[in-house]
Amino acid sequence: MSAKHFKLTRPEWMTKNVLIGGGFIAGLVVIAVIVIPIAVIFSKKSSTVTNTTTATSVFLAYWNFENNGNDLYGNYSGTTSGSSWQFGTSGFYGGTYFYVYGTNSYIQVPASSYFNLNSQSFTFEAWIYLHTVANDAPIFSQCTCTTCTSQCLFLIIRNSKLYMGFNFNDLSAVTTLSTSTWYHVAFVYNYQTSQQIIYLNGVQDAIRSNVTTPYLGTNGSMYFGYSPLLSSNYYYGWIDNAQLTSRAKSSAEISDDALLVFYYSFDQPNPYYDKGPNGLNATTTNNLVPASGHVGQAIRLTSSSSYMQIYCFPGVNWPSSRSLTFAIWVYPSSINGGNFLYSTQGYPMLGLTYSGQTAAQILQSSPANVWLTIFGSFVVVNTWTHVACTFSTTNGFTLYVNGVSHGTLTGISTYYFNYNLQTIQIGTGNGNGFIPSYGFQGSVDELYAYRRALSASEILALASV
Ligand SMILES: *[C@@H]1O[C@H](CO)[C@@H](O)[C@H](O)[C@H]1NC(C)=O
Ligand SMILES: *[C@@H]1O[C@H](CO)[C@@H](O)[C@H](O)[C@H]1NC(C)=O
Ligand SMILES: *[C@@H]1O[C@H](CO)[C@@H](O)[C@H](O)[C@H]1NC(C)=O
Ligand SMILES: *[C@@H]1O[C@H](CO)[C@@H](O)[C@H](O)[C@H]1NC(C)=O
Ligand SMILES: *[C@@H]1O[C@H](CO)[C@@H](O)[C@H](O)[C@H]1NC(C)=O
Repeated sequence: MSAKHFKLTRPEWMTKNVLIGGGFIAGLVVIAVIVIPIAVIFSKKSSTVTNTTTATSVFLAYWNFENNGNDLYGNYSGTTSGSSWQFGTSGFYGGTYFYVYGTNSYIQVPASSYFNLNSQSFTFEAWIYLHTVANDAPIFSQCTCTTCTSQCLFLIIRNSKLYMGFNFNDLSAVTTLSTSTWYHVAFVYNYQTSQQIIYLNGVQDAIRSNVTTPYLGTNGSMYFGYSPLLSSNYYYGWIDNAQLTSRAKSSAEISDDALLVFYYSFDQPNPYYDKGPNGLNATTTNNLVPASGHVGQAIRLTSSSSYMQIYCFPGVNWPSSRSLTFAIWVYPSSINGGNFLYSTQGYPMLGLTYSGQTAAQILQSSPANVWLTIFGSFVVVNTWTHVACTFSTTNGFTLYVNGVSHGTLTGISTYYFNYNLQTIQIGTGNGNGFIPSYGFQGSVDELYAYRRALSASEILALASV
């Protein structure tokens, strides 16, 4: 996955609290997906078809569950029904989620807003948080006939695993789920390759490659938290930020949907617009100006009190063993120390020492409670430098400068960073460890945060743009 690849595939849109520019998005996605499928369709139907088929439209729905069942694109809005549901706070990226805790309680998108998935590819994604993994728990459904083969779509938890069914034409996932943890789940049907694929937290969990009969539903409502096939069952837990599209997303897109936290290109005219999947636009900016960037435009921190804040970075646990990556281009105008990545819970992770040496540091919790620091090369005034750090329990904590590793600390089983939804700050910090509180002076560009440890080659790709 190269940085260039990220740019081509990432839909430039938002999620959480805002309406979407639907035409713009639809256009982008159509361009991205139509070309390849058509080629495949032609090769599949090796008959006498010589006419050009018109490109089929890609339909999209996005439900952010901000106190309602509305589709942000406007075509597939649902309404709540029953007595055992509510909207709760906070979702994985803030806001509210849809909470179901009893039978016959759901959000229903009426059959009059029929989303046609018949004989075509689709991708359904959502964030889920379970209170039980015991029963058949319907996350999402659309059903024409409960007794017919392939006419009832149900995406559920069965035997504590994700399960995707067209009815008698199904796929069970492999990983056993736990209660009380957020998961990103994705269910893909690829009509061209005849595959059902289930992803858990951005990673393929199960695949079935002989789905000779596609989903054949022709009508019916869509439901969250309920399925007509399992009408006495209910989903006991939370659902947030669900989306459905009539195309098969690639594994790279699903990985980003699940594990890319934010990405700022800092390009005009919206330098503080998060171009990642979660719409985490910068919430506070102080003494920042536009500047020329390493790629396109950047922002410049003009005083020692300059900073940018992003809310909300999801809690990694307290202490945490979760993987992460931060990466940024920096262009110092003077050497002054400074923070490239600071959790306002009190943990500067990436920055410069007083003398301008790059540093990645982590407050280890286990095996011993101690600050650990990796020092890299010195930055040079008016020169772009790429700085990144990654953490995973298997590969340790690594500082990269210009795509080259400057050391890895292994043996860290847990660390402290943030324990709940938290603000991330660029610029100033609190001075813990070797990264002083002083504000960084200069420009920053191409800031990425991931909930996974990027590989050395992926970091090199980000440092090679
Ligand atoms: C292409 O489609 C047009 C209109 O549907 C039809 O008149 C024509 O015969 C078709 N050509 C071929 C080669 O199938
Ligand atoms: C909404 O429905 C209209 C009419 O069918 C369609 O043209 C448009 O592409 C749909 N929008 C999305 C985002 O699916
Ligand atoms: C389809 O594949 C699954 C495993 O992916 C296998 O269990 C099943 O027997 C296969 N069915 C046919 C008809 O080949
Ligand atoms: C779908 O249409 C068929 C035929 O009109 C009808 O029998 C069936 O009840 C419909 N199903 C739903 C879920 O509306
Ligand atoms: C983020 O900023 C862009 C550009 O100003 C705006 O269009 C979009 O609605 C914002 N998104 C959120 C989630 O605030």
